Amino acid sequence: MTSIAFDAATARMLEQVYLTPDIVAQRARVLELLAPRPGEHILDIGVGPGLLAYDLGRLVGEGGRIVGLDASPDMLKAAGGRLGPLIQAECVLGDAAALPFPAAAFDAAVSTQVYEYVADMPAALAELRRVLKPGGRALILDTDWRSLVWRCGDQALMDRVLAAWDEHLFDPHLPSALGPMLERAGFAVRRVEIAPLLTAGWQPVSYAAGILRTMRDFVLKAGPRRGLGAEEIQAWHDDQQDLIARGEFFFSLNRYIFLATRDR
Ligand SMILES: C[S@@+](CC[C@H](N)C(=O)[O-])C[C@H]1O[C@@H](n2cnc3c(N)ncnc32)[C@H](O)[C@@H]1O
Repeated sequence: MTSIAFDAATARMLEQVYLTPDIVAQRARVLELLAPRPGEHILDIGVGPGLLAYDLGRLVGEGGRIVGLDASPDMLKAAGGRLGPLIQAECVLGDAAALPFPAAAFDAAVSTQVYEYVADMPAALAELRRVLKPGGRALILDTDWRSLVWRCGDQALMDRVLAAWDEHLFDPHLPSALGPMLERAGFAVRRVEIAPLLTAGWQPVSYAAGILRTMRDFVLKAGPRRGLGAEEIQAWHDDQQDLIARGEFFFSLNRYIFLATRDR
């Protein structure tokens, strides 16, 4: 299994992709659903480059606290640069499945695009519950890659590329199982909704444009073990370039947002 390396280069790539209009809109919806209040203590698990944590920090204000946790020192460096001006913000190195905080430390916690990379989800959810106050809110967002509708000229080749891409994370289909997992871990699921990423026609500054580049780079490394050679990957990429040139590019992918509360 070749998972994505969350290093300095990935931090730069994520910063670019996460500033595209579709992901900016997703972040706005996450903030709306989590509804942070001034003075609250909030944990961002897998803080990445810190764009959401920065907004959360502004909303809880100087009387509140925002803690960004990440397992990658490079990601924390990127988050630290962004959160530096906020005295209510702190960055902590740690693992989602072993959170370095006392019990009932937070009013709310958020984790976007992180749990799909985590191998031990029962441990991660037990930890999430432990660090929340009773009644505390948890917002989780992850992608289900089965929701992908991506136009192409060669579906068999696309399927092989996507199978290689699935190796970039632990569970490419986490959302469809997440509701029962949350209930088993002691949460009440309050709301589930889709955050769609849709590019119909071509938008060079979009999640789809970013993922096309990232996927090509990843499958060039992961593909050979699955019998997928560089020439085939180039053919897959050329097919997409042809669709873009003809104005026929179409990419639609769903992310799923779960809002839950610690109920016991
Ligand atoms: C795709 S990025 C998402 C970043 C951020 N949450 C966002 O939505 O902008 C995934 C992040 O999760 C972090 N991560 C992955 N596995 C983790 C784990 N077990 N514990 C903590 N962080 C983890 C990575 O280092 C990376 O920063």
